[in-house]
Amino acid sequence: MHANPSTSDPLRHAQPQRQLVLCVGPGGVGKTTTAATLALAAAVGGKKVLVVTIDPSRRLGQALGFENARAGAELPVESPALAASSGSLHALLLDGRVVFDRLVRAYASSPEQAAAIVGNPIYRATTENLGGALEYAAIAQLQLLHAEGRYDLIVLDTPPTANALDFLAAPERIGELVNNPATRLLTGGGKLGSKILGIGNGIVLKTLAKIGGGDFLTDLGAFLRDFSEVLEAYRSRAGDFSELLTSADCGVILTTSASPFSVREALQFLGVLVERGLRVDGVILNRVLPPFAPLPASELLRPALVHQLGEAACEPALARITRAYAGLRAEGERGLEAVRAIAQAFPDLRIWALPREEPPPTSLDDLHRLGQLFVALRG
Ligand SMILES: Nc1ncnc2c1ncn2[C@@H]1O[C@H](COP(=O)(O)OP(=O)(O)O)[C@@H](O)[C@H]1O
Ligand SMILES: [Mg+2]
Repeated sequence: MHANPSTSDPLRHAQPQRQLVLCVGPGGVGKTTTAATLALAAAVGGKKVLVVTIDPSRRLGQALGFENARAGAELPVESPALAASSGSLHALLLDGRVVFDRLVRAYASSPEQAAAIVGNPIYRATTENLGGALEYAAIAQLQLLHAEGRYDLIVLDTPPTANALDFLAAPERIGELVNNPATRLLTGGGKLGSKILGIGNGIVLKTLAKIGGGDFLTDLGAFLRDFSEVLEAYRSRAGDFSELLTSADCGVILTTSASPFSVREALQFLGVLVERGLRVDGVILNRVLPPFAPLPASELLRPALVHQLGEAACEPALARITRAYAGLRAEGERGLEAVRAIAQAFPDLRIWALPREEPPPTSLDDLHRLGQLFVALRG
């Protein structure tokens, strides 16, 4: 059976007017791969597309041109698939530091304040290591690019968060960190650094000060004050993230594997997305195997195996084949179960399947081929 690419391409089929698409889902299910695949398909379909990606495998990163490229650059992607298209594809590797630098430069109250933030030793640690900083940067990046309006469509791959829900919670956590009353006090007096770090204990504080150098708390206080001012200025001028994410410009595609663990997390995540008013355009069930017909009875297989392998090798081979086949069938069955579970919880949601490719898709040709293999299961 050959799927018709024009009807099964999720973005074209679901909500062709979206300007932003978030590719979300549990860890390791294929978010980065599907984001690149959807972006390429939309570009082949004639749109001017940017894919903002996060953790491509080395080979996929090479295919998108990131090797030796400047961090944060929008790189034109060349592919034979695009030659006949009026569309284009650019790829940007998300770099949290670059995004924060850009925010600081654009929204600091003065060049001096910008220099003070960027020169603060805590800045690097915060923008690189603070839980949620990359998620914050991802959405800020999306918002900045969307406001510039240079692309018809921006596809955002999301960070490899341990739990998919962290992605939505992270920007708020950062917002809370810089807005919370303890921070305010700290930025005024410098005494409450311990509270914000959750360590109201003198010994811990002294140890921290020692590790961080004597100026640790002064640095922390100055940094939080300046950085919260920048994020506040940014938020009041650019609008809340949730405004952007719940607007009709923005749709969400959730990718999951068929493993019960991923499906459970995906269902939970879908619930929260819907509750928060995001527009879920569909689910991609990735790396699925087709449901296999039962293996022919061993009486039918045995003569063929004896003919191929000889009498002695026949029985062990038959046992191996039966075992392997049972594994494949069980996996195909899991795909069907996943579809049933998602359809039961969200009856109106579109669901597409993507087959498991061997070897895994890494080149642009691979992605182009993968983009033609979407099968619409529901909707
Ligand atoms: N349809 C597919 N068939 C085979 N391998 C795939 C498929 N989709 C993704 N992969 C592989 O699975 C791994 C995880 O994919 P990736 O896109 O990096 O997931 P995530 O971004 O969710 O962590 C990668 O090695 C990728 O090449
Ligand atoms: Mg990824």
